[in-house]
Amino acid sequence: MSSHPLSTQPEDEDSIRFEHVGMRYGRGEEVLNDVSFTLKKGSMNFLTGPSGAGKSSLLKLMYLNMRPSRGLITLFGQDTSQIDIGAIPVLKRRMGVVLQDFRLIQHLNVFENVALPLRVAGVKRDAYQENVVSLLKWVGLGDRMRALPPTLSGGEKQRAAIARAVISKPEILIADEPTGNVDMEIGKRLIRLFSELNRLGTTVIIATHDLSLIPSGATHMTLNNGVLTIPENDNGSGAANV
Ligand SMILES: Nc1ncnc2c1ncn2[C@@H]1O[C@H](COP(=O)(O)OP(=O)(O)OP(=O)(O)O)[C@@H](O)[C@H]1O
Ligand SMILES: [Mg+2]
Repeated sequence: MSSHPLSTQPEDEDSIRFEHVGMRYGRGEEVLNDVSFTLKKGSMNFLTGPSGAGKSSLLKLMYLNMRPSRGLITLFGQDTSQIDIGAIPVLKRRMGVVLQDFRLIQHLNVFENVALPLRVAGVKRDAYQENVVSLLKWVGLGDRMRALPPTLSGGEKQRAAIARAVISKPEILIADEPTGNVDMEIGKRLIRLFSELNRLGTTVIIATHDLSLIPSGATHMTLNNGVLTIPENDNGSGAANV
């Protein structure tokens, strides 16, 4: 896998590494229990498991939305417990995130929502306009570009959130049930989009209930009751037990 053209990360570095990570909400029981794995740079990974198994919680740790209650998490080779608060937004900009509740900005239309990461990065409209339009067409939102999020269907919101997460070709793409609101055909198209991004060098991790969407060659991790398993026969290109 060649290095992402915008990447500053050394080729052989792990994107994400968990070592004996535990996580609890408040004083509750651990919802993640001694989780250890690495996501290699440029790998394509799927995370499945029953509702309540801890998939979203695991992803929240990856995109620095929560902190673990024990264990070590490194992101781009940096120990996340040592990261300066001021450096967190910079790190977050290297990741694209699709959440179960989309988090679109309600007063910006679809085009503006999707263009936002590029605007924040200082890219001029002339330079991104065409890319945003062609990506929106690809996800089937060509005729909804001027619509505001409250007027979109669940599946349309989901596709807008996905377009926003991938538009800046992030180094890591984290997606939580990204095909939960769309039909099988669009779901497959969206997985192709993630695979395309992965071919450009992005490390991809997708939580899903839908096993039929997992392409061959991708690593398939399973969570059950907070305990993670990775198949022994994984080809080593993706996640691996530490
Ligand atoms: N904010 C919270 N406060 C307290 N407990 C929580 C919170 N969010 C999740 N949990 C609990 O943590 C456990 C794991 O939840 P999580 O959302 O990670 O599961 P999931 O695998 O993503 O499920 P789903 O497939 O339904 O999205 C569940 O028992 C859930 O009730
Ligand atoms: Mg979830």
